[in-house]
Amino acid sequence: MTVKYQSQKIAQYFYTFAVILFLVQVVVGIIAAIQFIRPDIFILNFNTIRTLHINALVVWLLAGLMGATYYVVPEESETEVWSLPLAKLQFWATVGAITLVVLGYIWMGLDPQANSTVMGTQLLNEGREYIEAPRWADALIVVSVLLFLFNMFMTMWKTKKWTGIQGVLLFGLLFLALMYLPGMFYSKNMIKDQFWWWWVIHLWVEGSWEVIAGALLAFMLMKTIGAKREVLEKWMYIEVGLVLFTGILGTGHHYYFIGTPKYWHWIGGFFSSLEPVPLLLMVWDAFRTTREARNVTNKPGLFYTVAHAIFNFVGAGLWGIIHTLPQVNQWTHGTQITTAHGHLAFYGAYVLLVISMIYVTLPAIRGVKDYNPARAYLAFWWMTISMVFIVLTITGAGMVQVYMERLMGLDYVAVKTTYNLWFWILRAIFGVGFLIGVSIFVYDFFMLGKEPAPALRTEEQKA
Ligand code: HEM
Ligand code: HEM
Ligand SMILES: [Fe+2]
Repeated sequence: MTVKYQSQKIAQYFYTFAVILFLVQVVVGIIAAIQFIRPDIFILNFNTIRTLHINALVVWLLAGLMGATYYVVPEESETEVWSLPLAKLQFWATVGAITLVVLGYIWMGLDPQANSTVMGTQLLNEGREYIEAPRWADALIVVSVLLFLFNMFMTMWKTKKWTGIQGVLLFGLLFLALMYLPGMFYSKNMIKDQFWWWWVIHLWVEGSWEVIAGALLAFMLMKTIGAKREVLEKWMYIEVGLVLFTGILGTGHHYYFIGTPKYWHWIGGFFSSLEPVPLLLMVWDAFRTTREARNVTNKPGLFYTVAHAIFNFVGAGLWGIIHTLPQVNQWTHGTQITTAHGHLAFYGAYVLLVISMIYVTLPAIRGVKDYNPARAYLAFWWMTISMVFIVLTITGAGMVQVYMERLMGLDYVAVKTTYNLWFWILRAIFGVGFLIGVSIFVYDFFMLGKEPAPALRTEEQKA
């Protein structure tokens, strides 16, 4: 396996940045988990640790998706990337900006007063979950994303070869970029502020990112099994259409109790209950295609692709639908049930998506014919089993929390420190299991192609 176009190798820069941040994200997640048990355990407080954990998550996933796009678009357009120097500049500028943002969070964690107001905006941290990056960083991020999109559109423009897969992929990315904008102004009115904030958060993960996932799913099935493009694209359009149909108005499931009008109960409840349907179609798509497989060229790639489809449905679809009706959400809103869903959805939908793309494309980037897949599977089982147990544990904690806090009226802190303590201990233990899985994966990422493949090794031994 080799790349068709040399410039596709730029994907590897983004992947490397992504996997390193993945490791950081999980280490920081374990510190957060320990702080549930011993709040004073670390020099940085829980609020800073939590910000680092979820921002690292979002950034590494976006970096991974950018890398994947740099690989897919030249392949589909049948040409080199329009400007490789621009792509490299965009990469280093992104790494630079992200590093500054992280240093800013840490600085503020050590000295909260440092987050001073400059020209009406906060210097280090804007303080809205997931998009805490300050305004100057927002501007840099927008420039970086514009350069990236420009480069990709120009690549496509060079040959004017339009395929469904890259069309949907670029549409998803454009949608993603546009949905960053509602997060760039704030209102002193909390209701309005939350209203727009959800456009970013919800319409990202349940809109644009899911569109990107649909396109990449088709691409990966095509690459790993050689499935027919026409069939894959037909299903992709149906999936993506349904994602948008259910997901856009599904935003209403965040408008039940924040002060927005009552009609959102009906709209949000109805449309978001349908959101699992396209995700189930994706699972079916993956299975149907795999059943017809004659020659699988990249088994770990296919394995992760199918796992991604399944856990996207379970984490986002099933763990989403359980609390999406207003009648249920009025009890579970903002509890550990939400956190359980957040973990499994992000893991299944996007962590596994980026890892799948890495396993599907990295062998070609490194020019490897065959490689030992053992570590890829081992990492999968460590990560997935640990994540399932983390999620079951905090789903349990969430049920206790809902019952004691919201039905019996016990105090938040009493429930957290006394009744849920064992759940926190278990979560921390499973977290370490997850870290073992990530470490195996990251090691495999750096080693892939740098050691002889098993088949070659046995031949060498024979000789
Ligand atoms: C891959 C897709 C998804 C991801 C990554 C995701 C992730 C998340 C996260 C992180 C939160 C917590 C946000 C916060 O900090 O307050 C959340 C909330 C929520 N999600 Fe999802 N989600 C996805 C899909 C879905 C789907 C398909 C449904 C419904 C079927 C759903 C239903 C909900 C609901 C109802 C809440 C609000 C919980 C509350 O009131 O506290 N999600 N989601
Ligand atoms: C790929 C793996 C992971 C993903 C995708 C992930 C994702 C997330 C997300 C989306 C949130 C915000 C949830 C919300 O507000 O509802 C969060 C919070 C958190 N995560 Fe993770 N995480 C991962 C791994 C871990 C690990 C291994 C641990 C350690 C056990 C951990 C511990 C925590 C803790 C303690 C919080 C704060 C929960 C709270 O505020 O109630 N995470 N994570
Ligand atoms: Fe949502």
